[in-house]
Amino acid sequence: MNLKLYKYINLNSKKFSVKFFKQRLPFIYILFNYFYRKFIVNINIEDKEILQFHKSGFVKIDMSFKNEIEEYKNKFFINDQYIKDGIKKVPLELNEIDKINLILKIKEKLLPFVKKLENYFNCEISIPDVTIWRNYNHNDALNLDKEHFSNHFHQDSYLMTYSKIFVNLMDINEEDGPLEVVPRENRNSFIKSFNYKDRHNYNVLGDKSLIKKNVGKIGDCCLFSSPQIFHRAGVPKNFRDNMQIILVAIPKRYSEKISNIDNAKLFDDNYDLFQKFTKPYSIIKVVKLFFVHLKYKLNG
Ligand SMILES: [Fe+2]
Repeated sequence: MNLKLYKYINLNSKKFSVKFFKQRLPFIYILFNYFYRKFIVNINIEDKEILQFHKSGFVKIDMSFKNEIEEYKNKFFINDQYIKDGIKKVPLELNEIDKINLILKIKEKLLPFVKKLENYFNCEISIPDVTIWRNYNHNDALNLDKEHFSNHFHQDSYLMTYSKIFVNLMDINEEDGPLEVVPRENRNSFIKSFNYKDRHNYNVLGDKSLIKKNVGKIGDCCLFSSPQIFHRAGVPKNFRDNMQIILVAIPKRYSEKISNIDNAKLFDDNYDLFQKFTKPYSIIKVVKLFFVHLKYKLNG
């Protein structure tokens, strides 16, 4: 009996968080985000996109990378081995020079928006990681025992200082398996309607009107707070090509290594550089990190 009770109040359990806080995140991350939203972010701004992001955790950005993507889309290539192995999520490769030039152009265009985000997060924003990939069709869309590419509803286990920008590398319609998000304000209704218990345990036939699909044109982009909102990758009829840009809010004196990442290295796995600040592994570290942000806010 005691053992069971202990399991029940395990604050690290995501099932516990879903049951009591309607979020699939470690409890301490939920707490961090709550206080971060209350005391750190700046919402005294008249910027529709940022306010929408704050409210819903998702916003389509009024910016198009159509020209940039059109210029490079025929240069993407796929390692045949992945296809032979039947992998459903495969990296889209570009040669080194093309990678660097493409990301340079995208970063330059994004800069004014990143500045606005720095104001919102009250913190410097760095881009530590970029991924380009293709999702293929599979027949397990309704099978919750098998997941091929984050196609079950989940939240990313990070603090809200970790966000993502998605750029469409093709026109994406309903049948192309767009990213699906549950806006923050729909979270409770979503848990209820989908009888959501865990990533592999919910009713796939819940109320679809609670879900927003990121359909759009080539070059369109959206910002979303993957730790704050439930989301999943839709299953395409054929395939979907996407670019993901990670953004992290880390005070400057800790983030120099990240802001100095060479553009060519952005496509490597740089998780080790930003894990400490966006996915800390102990309660003490999370609390300390919160006070780092708070101090930053108070000292201007
Ligand atoms: Fe995710």
